Amino acid sequence: MPPEPPFGWFKKLRQISNGLDNVNINVHKVGGSYIYLSDIWKIYVAKPPGLWGVSPLVPPTTGVGLMDKFLLSSSHPLPVDSNDPKGPLLNIYALPMFGGHVIHLCKVTSPTEREFFAQVSLGPLPYIHSFGATRKYVILFGHPLYVDPYLMLQKQAAVESLSWKPQDGSTIYIVHRESGKVQTFKTDSYVVTHHVNAYETDLGKIVADFVTFPDPTPFMMFKMKIMTNSTARNEVKSHKSRIRRFIFDLQNNVVKQVTTLNFTGLANRLELPVINEKFRYRSYCYVYGVTFQSDDINFSDFRLVKRDLCMGRDLWWGKPGFYPSEPWFLPRPGATEEDDGLLFCSILDGNKKLSYLSVFDGKTLKEVSKSYLPTFIPFLLHGRFFPSI
Ligand SMILES: [Fe+2]
Repeated sequence: MPPEPPFGWFKKLRQISNGLDNVNINVHKVGGSYIYLSDIWKIYVAKPPGLWGVSPLVPPTTGVGLMDKFLLSSSHPLPVDSNDPKGPLLNIYALPMFGGHVIHLCKVTSPTEREFFAQVSLGPLPYIHSFGATRKYVILFGHPLYVDPYLMLQKQAAVESLSWKPQDGSTIYIVHRESGKVQTFKTDSYVVTHHVNAYETDLGKIVADFVTFPDPTPFMMFKMKIMTNSTARNEVKSHKSRIRRFIFDLQNNVVKQVTTLNFTGLANRLELPVINEKFRYRSYCYVYGVTFQSDDINFSDFRLVKRDLCMGRDLWWGKPGFYPSEPWFLPRPGATEEDDGLLFCSILDGNKKLSYLSVFDGKTLKEVSKSYLPTFIPFLLHGRFFPSI
């Protein structure tokens, strides 16, 4: 968000020379280390057990040199191998420039090591917060919400540097992980915030689910003048998101959209999607997440939801004045059913002005336990669970 009060030209130049900096949007464990990530390449390495004592680090590139402090990346790396959740991760980087762009794909094996395996050439650079993958492919949803370097220099704020060109449609790039071969597909203009899951079918197709918006609504919310004004927050219309399912026929280079059961229901509007990670890159049914503006009027109406993509038997939990953050699903040891487990969620109790850790039954979304903290935790975007901490 833009600095307030606004920077003068001298401060702007000094800020540019420092490059982009990171904030804690997400945290992952890789190579035995915990790293904080955002949508830029620079990361922070955290020290367990409290994840304090963070150290900044700019990982190696394919030869970007001093420009590496201006690289964009994704807050949402995915496992290289879904059967090895403690193993290497997939991630991307791109340098915003004037003209064409290249997105580089890599394996993250430790905070300091990157193994580059493919690249995608494209025109304007879409702002990619998350990407998809299957066992064999990486999926980049190139929506027409572009990073504009002119605006970046002028405005000095990520949210002010985006340019929406719906007339371009969306271009989806599917990259074969082993060969690096890229196939492109065109579809309608959407803004994609989060990838949910994707998998290959026995018929050689790819099923991929994304949280989509019809316009850049979700990014408008991060403007200070909107965040601090309840009327302006309600006018942003955060309830316009939908989980959309795309099926890619790689042989015939055709993509089509499929409307899942209860497509217009509340739970299909969820953001901050979470699945049972044992079903990553596999056929699956359940997505957990949070809906905002759930009553279609008030942004502050947050609900924790369970989306059933197979049968449409969605569930939700919510109470006035309670604000759930992104949950995390832990399967019951030995479980065979996808939703047999517990859902952990940090919830801010606005009445008591305290936060608590709530545990829900993954099948019924009934609250089975809650533990209050002696303080409150401001709203969090993403949640993670690390059994070793
Ligand atoms: Fe995110």
